[in-house]
Amino acid sequence: MAPPNDPAPAALIDRTIVLVGMMGAGKTAIGKRLAATLGWPFEDADAAIEAAAGTTIAEIFAEIGEAAFREKERQVIARLLAGQRQVLALGGGAFMDPQTRSLVRERACSVWLRADLDALVRRTGRRGTRPLLARGDPRATLARLLEQRGPTYAEADIVVDSSKGPLNAVVERVLAALARRANGAAP
Ligand code: S3P
Repeated sequence: MAPPNDPAPAALIDRTIVLVGMMGAGKTAIGKRLAATLGWPFEDADAAIEAAAGTTIAEIFAEIGEAAFREKERQVIARLLAGQRQVLALGGGAFMDPQTRSLVRERACSVWLRADLDALVRRTGRRGTRPLLARGDPRATLARLLEQRGPTYAEADIVVDSSKGPLNAVVERVLAALARRANGAAP
């Protein structure tokens, strides 16, 4: 058996890996690299919602509101979780939904990419596509959401810090944490 701090051989991980965490935590960027490293498909729940709706998340929020967006989000994630083993990045609010959380618990291994507020502010500032940050002070909004959501993100199977370091280093940390878990060690 591989030592616990070896990068996880793909064979040790037998379920979809779901990445959760705040906007700007790096779920998509890290998810793509993780999938490439494992040789698995990658899915981004936000992109799948946009493809299914034929429009952008910002438009969906503007046209039907957040509650209806959350319903679409729940349906799309349930469909993705019923499919093949993959690396799946969820939108920042998706894990707050109890049905989504219990499906993730049943079918996948979840990883909270935890990043500090400065990193979240820095990274979300690069793109203006997130409806929840379009109004008001983005830092204050991110701080409030992080405080509200942190305890729920902490229910993920694994927690990996994604505040610092090159993407590859974060991917290595995720793989090492998955290997420890696959080997039966505490996360
Ligand atoms: C949201 C995060 C976004 C997207 C939507 C709502 C949230 O995804 O789903 O704008 O509630 O945190 P990212 O976390 O990929 O930016």
